Parts: sequence; structure tokens; C-alpha cells
Amino acid sequence: MHQGNQTTISEFILLGLSKHAEQQKVVLVLFLGMYVVTMVENGLIILAISLDSYLHTPMYLFLANLSFADMSSISTSVPKMLMNIHTKSQSISYESCITQMYFSIVFVIIDNFLLGVMAYDRFVAICHPLNYTTIMQPRICALLTVIPWVLSNVVALTHTLLLIQLIFCDSNILPHFFCDLAPLLKLTCSDTMVNELVLFVIGLSVITFPFALILFSYIHIVSAVLRISTTEGKWKAISTCGSHLTVVLLFYGTIVGVYFFPSSTHPDDRDKIGAILFTVVTPMLNPFIYSLRNKDMKGALRKLINRKKFLPSMP
Ligand SMILES: *[C@@H]1O[C@H](CO)[C@@H](O)[C@H](O)[C@H]1NC(C)=O
Repeated sequence: MHQGNQTTISEFILLGLSKHAEQQKVVLVLFLGMYVVTMVENGLIILAISLDSYLHTPMYLFLANLSFADMSSISTSVPKMLMNIHTKSQSISYESCITQMYFSIVFVIIDNFLLGVMAYDRFVAICHPLNYTTIMQPRICALLTVIPWVLSNVVALTHTLLLIQLIFCDSNILPHFFCDLAPLLKLTCSDTMVNELVLFVIGLSVITFPFALILFSYIHIVSAVLRISTTEGKWKAISTCGSHLTVVLLFYGTIVGVYFFPSSTHPDDRDKIGAILFTVVTPMLNPFIYSLRNKDMKGALRKLINRKKFLPSMP
């Protein structure tokens, strides 16, 4: 039925970030460090928010959701990569590979949509403060967190169903550190026209919709801030949104930088740099940017740490 050298592939070989043993040690230490930092800080944020009823407002619930998505995002790729370096094995089973691809798509999309939802939340808070509680009522908030989950799973499922149709011939070597969609599409010997078309159409809408929401929200926020006459009011509004805007710029700056100005880098390196930024650097930096700049968050974290200190002495 199929031609000559086609075999059923039961595993893929992940070449990782570096071929050299010395560099691999550096990668291991560096990524282990980034992984631990990301898990601890996001975990602390979720804990601090859920234990402090003062922070049970839409903004912080979205932030907790973002932290959860960040922890999950980094966990799809980094632990397996570290494991492979540690055991000096480069293989990943076909099933694990597909699963890894599925969840890496899910969490990057959720991250993206949550940034849009959070921008919208700030827009309502700043431009319609009197209607904030009516617009951001619990049912709407729940909907705004559920929609990204549903959408991202639909997108990931679409890509997965299309991918498992593809035939992998003689090569199963991925020049990447986890099973990302783009390198998998490059590896197959089937025609990937449909996959690429779907990737382009869905990818574009998944990026455009949250970005449009963010742009809309911030244009209104900026014009509202400029209308505030007191300097103090201006600074308060700017500091509320500044941290969020930083993350957004980081996220979309990455997309533009990596995918729209690809000229100087090798395509494989470009995939790797993009993947590192999305699945490792963004999840690690998100909480830094929020908690370091947010007074309430700092207070909640301090409370959490003090509480821990006092726990053992309690009867
Ligand atoms: C995510 O948001 C929803 C509602 O907006 C909230 O009920 C839920 O607790 C949040 N999830 C986390 C992990 O905090």
C-alpha cells in the first residue's frame, strides 16, 4: 500500500538544545533552575490568591488562572527534556510525543486568551468603574475563563487529528527539545498542505482575536488616563496597567520577532528560540512582572509566608 521505505514509527528522537556534553550540562542546570523558579513562584501566587479572600476579585482570579496555565505550559516540555539529558536518552514514544504536542498547543493558546481577558478586565475597571461589578459578575468571569479552555482544546484536537494522519518515513529525528507542531510537520513525508493551511488560518485567528481585544482595551485605557487631570490619578492608572502591558509586549514582541523577521536565523533555531520564549521564558517572567509591581500581591505573599512560619507552633 505505502511506498518502499515507510515504516511505522514508534518513537521520535529529540536532539535537544545542544549536541555537546558540556553544553548539555549547562542546559540541564539552567533549565532546571528556570523550571523550579517558575513552579515555585506561580504556585505561591495561586496559593496566596486562593488563601486571601481580599484578592477574590476577577483580576486576581484571572491572574491565578494565568499562573496555572504557565505552570502547565512549562511542564509540557521541560521535565521530559531534563529527564532525557539526565538519562542520556533522546527518545520519546509516539504517543508521548503527540500528547506533548497537544498540551503545548493548549497552554500557549490559553495564555494568549487570558492576556486578552485580563486587558478587557482592566478596560472595564478603568473606563466603566461604576458598572464594573455588574459587567464582571461571577458568571461572566467563569465564562471568560472557560472559553479559552474550550477553544484551545478544540484547536489542539484539530491539529492532533490532522497530524496523526501523516506518515513518517525513514527519519524520526526532531531537531528540537520537545514535540512541537512545526518540526513534526517538517519531518513527515506526507503532503502537509492541509495541515499548514489549518495552522495558518487557526494560528492567525488565535493570535488576532486576543490581540485585537488587547489593542481595543489599551487604546481606551490610555485615552481615559490622559483625561484624568491629577498626576496622582494618572500614575495610579499607569502602574495598574504597566505590568500587564509589559507581559503583553513581551508575548507579542516574541511572536513578531521570531516569526516575522526570520531572515538571520536558521529555521530550526527559530523554532527552538520561539518555543523557549513561549513555553519557558514567558511562564517564568509573568509572575515576576505581576508580583514585583503589585502592592496587594506582595502583601498577600508576605501574609502567606508569615502564616507558614507560624504554622508549626500552632497546637
Ligand atoms: C480561574 O478563574 C475562575 C473564575 O474566574 C475561578 O473560579 C478559578 O478559581 C480560577 N482558577 C484558579 C486556578 O485560580
